[in-house]
Amino acid sequence: MNTNRVIIFDTTLRDGEQSPGASMNREEKIRIAKLLEEMRVDVIEAGFAIASQGDYEAIKAVAETVTESTVASLARAAKGDIQRAADAIAPAKRGRIHTFISTSPLHMKYKLQMQPEAVHQAVIDSVSFARNLTDDVEWSAEDGSRTEHDFLCQCVESAIEAGATTINIPDTVGYTVPDEYHALITMLCNRVPNIDKAIISVHCHNDLGLAVANSLAAVQAGARQVECTINGLGERAGNAALEEIIMALRTRQDHMPFETGINSELITKASHMVSTVTGIMVQPNKAIVGANAFAHESGIHQDGVLKHAETYEIMTPESVGLKESNLVMGKHSGRHAFKEKLKDLGYALGDNAMNDAFKRFKDLADKKKEIFDEDIVALVDDEVRDNDSIKFVSLQVVCGSKVEHQTAELELDIEGEIVSMTADGDGPVDATFNAIKALTFATQHLQLYQVHAVTEGADAQAEVTVRLEENGKTVMGQGADTDTLVASARAYINALNKLIVKRQRTAPEAVAV
Ligand code: KIV
Ligand code: ZN
Repeated sequence: MNTNRVIIFDTTLRDGEQSPGASMNREEKIRIAKLLEEMRVDVIEAGFAIASQGDYEAIKAVAETVTESTVASLARAAKGDIQRAADAIAPAKRGRIHTFISTSPLHMKYKLQMQPEAVHQAVIDSVSFARNLTDDVEWSAEDGSRTEHDFLCQCVESAIEAGATTINIPDTVGYTVPDEYHALITMLCNRVPNIDKAIISVHCHNDLGLAVANSLAAVQAGARQVECTINGLGERAGNAALEEIIMALRTRQDHMPFETGINSELITKASHMVSTVTGIMVQPNKAIVGANAFAHESGIHQDGVLKHAETYEIMTPESVGLKESNLVMGKHSGRHAFKEKLKDLGYALGDNAMNDAFKRFKDLADKKKEIFDEDIVALVDDEVRDNDSIKFVSLQVVCGSKVEHQTAELELDIEGEIVSMTADGDGPVDATFNAIKALTFATQHLQLYQVHAVTEGADAQAEVTVRLEENGKTVMGQGADTDTLVASARAYINALNKLIVKRQRTAPEAVAV
């Protein structure tokens, strides 16, 4: 066994999805999972099976699709949760149950309202139960970084004895710092007698901006699994960013001689896919995947890079798969070429969605001279929402400085029935949203409305993102079109459809066996 091999456990589809507004449907999860598998991610945590029927089905679908990576489901320390996780991962070639319970004094007293002895017993019972259902069991000590050392050692030892093959020590609230976390992992390696029977995993949140630094410190102390997400997506300030972990290990082999199996050239593609699906864009100066991560603005830097790239470039854009925008197709491209291009971009559309997408591609090609990969992705993302209950049909807007009333005439398909409405508003976007609200009886609060161009040029498609809030739950919606108002309507409708799915989910409470 290679002792320097670090297992990459991606939790974009589970912890990443817990990020406000980032919910993903089954098709979106499958698409991301396939790309993670192609990147050679070792473990894909596909969701939290007990959270909802939708989540359960999405995990099951990922387990049916992915063959190279292990597929995991999260489960609390309760038999019902664990059984549900086992059922969801059953079709997987390699499946894992990931069960957890809080071990810190604060969480045990206030969240679980359990005595340490009862928590310890729950660790044994939950891991044993999971191990009877599958061979690959991960146990997590939630809030592990704030857990008393003696108690942590006791729980870890018992979890391994009960059959856990991976022991995860999360920094759940992003509180630790690198040397402290390094010392914690070292302490476990030194004090837990059976620690050699399990892989130590780390799972860091980014509340103090230290998630990646803490994860790397833990690897240097002996951890051999890192839990992370694409773009650092996740609860609050997010999780450790996969792309930063991978590129740090790759770039600083001299200092950190550890290996992963990841194909880093798919990082940019994965980052775009996750942004598009969730509607959560990365900041321009984000390490590795931000729009400016490889841009050299200052003359001195440009001059240096032209003379010798390594003067200011510690890694190449190619190593993360960053390429010039790909001019792909035009008005004369046929259905076959379009289908091939979609396959290349990771989409497998059914016949109806394919016909609609091809028609929209042809319409777009009439309006826009050059069509890039980004255009196709934006366009097709609208078409893969086959299961949506509300679908856009048409929109006509009367607006401009000479018009007294800005009005929108909108047609929607709501569960197969075509309905229409004309509404006015303070401007064309407001009129459009009012028409949608009137047709769908929507009462949500619009928290964010954002437009950006998919590519360069005045004929670029507009990509609109909206965030809606209902009773504390938020969802993001996206829509693209060369007409900004149509893109706006599509984005609002996309958010409403996500909300319908999210309403069926109940946030699981902290429970034990
Ligand atoms: O942050 C955390 O502690 C978690 C666990 C459930 C692994 O996400
Ligand atoms: Zn977490």
